[in-house]
Formats: sequence, structure tokens, C-alpha cells
Amino acid sequence: MKIVEVRHPLIQHKLGLMRRAGISTKEFRELASEVAALLTYEATADMETECKMIDGWAGPVEVTHIKGKKVTIVPILRAGLGMLSGVLEMIPAAKVSVVGLQRDEETLEPVTYYEKLSGGMDERTAIIVDPMLATAGTLVATVDMLKAAGAKKIKGLFLVAAPEGLKRIEAAHPDIEIYVASIDDHLNELGYILPGLGDAGDKIFGTK
Ligand code: PRP
Ligand code: URA
Repeated sequence: MKIVEVRHPLIQHKLGLMRRAGISTKEFRELASEVAALLTYEATADMETECKMIDGWAGPVEVTHIKGKKVTIVPILRAGLGMLSGVLEMIPAAKVSVVGLQRDEETLEPVTYYEKLSGGMDERTAIIVDPMLATAGTLVATVDMLKAAGAKKIKGLFLVAAPEGLKRIEAAHPDIEIYVASIDDHLNELGYILPGLGDAGDKIFGTK
């Protein structure tokens, strides 16, 4: 499976700022969006392009444009919404497929409560966005859902991932690609990533 830990200095600096205790909702949200935009740049480097002639200011000119059906971004409610604006800044014409999954706090297993996918999933690249990849239960269930709808090319963008979760997704769906700002140390007994970011959803929405 392709797993890319994106070690770009801007990403690492911004992620470091996100790890501070007591960070404000405003700052966490802004940084989540900025890191998402930078991860998008990396994750879309293989997009197919084609050349076409257009009328330029000084006459005909050959330009490059992206080929094929528009990508669909898949934010996982609710924390994934914190990355959506950053991805859309880079790909403003993208479609959006919203899915809602929440970890049961006791079993850590995901519960699906919402699904509204773009049409033509079999022809689009699906880009899942979620700040945290912990046990990977949520990601496995999301990829199951996208594949059931016909998706063939699936990528995931995460701020932080746990090695345990990466192993699980690799076993379940080795054909997807993962782009992550940091592969952290381990999960604690409550399923939180260490050193991690804490509860990303609460930090993005200012809850708790
Ligand atoms: C968090 C996170 C992921 C999931 C990761 O969401 O945003 O979706 O946990 O955990 P996993 O890899 O062990 O499945 P959470 O369930 O806390 O919901 P929220 O986004 O609504 O806060
Ligand atoms: N969800 C979070 O928000 N944080 C973690 O560390 C794990 C799952």
C-alpha cells in the first residue's frame, strides 16, 4: 500500500503548532485547513492532464488542464469537515460526498449515521479527509462504503495516523493511498493517538 508521510517543512511546522496544549478553536481550525491544502497538493501530483489549444492574449496557446471527471472529496463527519475548506481551496470544482461515522466510545467500532455520495463514483478519484486515523475502524468502513458505490481510486488525507491503524487499513484495503502529516507512536488504552492532537472533532468545533 502507498503510505506517504509528507515531511514538508510547512506541514511539519503547522502540525507542531497544532499539538500545543490550550490551542484555540480558531487557530486549530485554521491550521487543519492549511495542512489539508498542503496534503492535497502532494496527493494530487499524479492527476491525469491533457493539452488543449485556447485563445490567449497574444493568439493561440497550448495549455494543460486536468482530464476526466472531477474528484469527489469525502469528509468524514464531523472532524473531516475541518479539512474540507483547505482541500476545496486547491480543487474548487470538486464534488463532495459527505459520510457520517462516529466511534462508539466503548467498543471503538464505527457507527455509520449518514451517507450522501456523488454520482458516477466509478469514474472519480475519491479523496477521504479526516484528521485522525487511529484504529482505522472508521476508515475501513468508509472505504467499504465507497467501494460498494463503485469507487475504484481512493486516497485518504490525515493529519495524524497511528501505526496500528495503518496496519489494519493495509490488511483490509491495500489498494488505497494514504497521505499523512505524521505517523505517531501508538494508541493509548482509550484509542487516542499519542502524542497525537487529542480529540480533533472537539478542537475543531469547540465542544467539550
Ligand atoms: C474521530 C476521527 C475519526 C475517528 C478515528 O472521529 O475524526 O473519524 O475518530 O478513529 P478510528 O481510526 O479509531 O476509527 P470521532 O468518532 O471522534 O467523531 P467526530 O468526528 O464526530 O468527533
Ligand atoms: N479521534 C480523535 O479525535 N483523536 C484520536 O487520537 C483518536 C481518534
